[in-house]
Amino acid sequence: MIGGVFVVGALHLDVVVGAPHLPAIDETVIGQSVDCRFGGKGGNQAVAAARFGASTAMAGRVGSDQFGRQLLKELDGAGVDRTQVVVSDGKSGMSVAIVDSSGEYGAVIVSGANSAIDGQMINVPESAGVVLLQNEIPEAANVAVARQAGKQRTVILNAAPAHQVCPELLDRVDLLIVNRCEAEQLTGTRGAEMPEKLAALGPPAVIATLGADGLILVRRDENDLRLTANPVPVVSTHGAGDAFVGALAAEMARGKALESALEFAQSAAAIHVSRKVENRNRIGRREVLAFMNDS
Ligand code: RIB
Repeated sequence: MIGGVFVVGALHLDVVVGAPHLPAIDETVIGQSVDCRFGGKGGNQAVAAARFGASTAMAGRVGSDQFGRQLLKELDGAGVDRTQVVVSDGKSGMSVAIVDSSGEYGAVIVSGANSAIDGQMINVPESAGVVLLQNEIPEAANVAVARQAGKQRTVILNAAPAHQVCPELLDRVDLLIVNRCEAEQLTGTRGAEMPEKLAALGPPAVIATLGADGLILVRRDENDLRLTANPVPVVSTHGAGDAFVGALAAEMARGKALESALEFAQSAAAIHVSRKVENRNRIGRREVLAFMNDS
């Protein structure tokens, strides 16, 4: 193990509803399930990194409500060091997601306490080899953390949800990760010129995950790498991106080369989407390696 994973990001209480389809304007849809779960991209990625064997710490913020207590308990249960998760007055962040019958989803987040995350209060641990950021917290906090992380650590930005990222942050990021929708929002295209436009964003490596179409890795001065997806039956894609990013960070913290870490992360995400939600937190490194051997 070269170092640990340090995640700075959002914690949400997720309300996840299963429905035949997403409602249109003015439509009421009859759903068939509702679940309250631990979430937030930061939280999910921290839990995934820990589950895949990385010593993981997280900085974030929850409110002084029941949701906040529940979120902290889940971090403890997953073995994530939450010394830098602050509890502040007010409401915890939350999200509502509707998962349709094909397993695809649409979601809304309400940031609550996450909007008050202050980068000046965060200390990147000495032991962190990989620093993981997302777009669900104030960008000033991401910039402050990336500055502190410096050049000796790998800084990964999962630019989700997509918004224009400031030049300083792009300059400090070693690896940018987006999904298809975010790639389109950042480059203005989903056509053949997308890889070139992703490369032009600045970071030395950019990954676009493309769901069933696999992924593309675009690197400065190197050929693009395309990986096909492992075909699996889909229960739900909710949180799959976080399983991918957390697994990738854990493998990189272990000292694995980017290409091999990517194959691992892709397999972890494939198992995630095909597994019933209640069994997802049992997916561990050994299972992913076995899946890779069989694929
Ligand atoms: O990526 C899925 C996550 O995004 C959910 O857990 C939700 O809270 C939103 O942050």
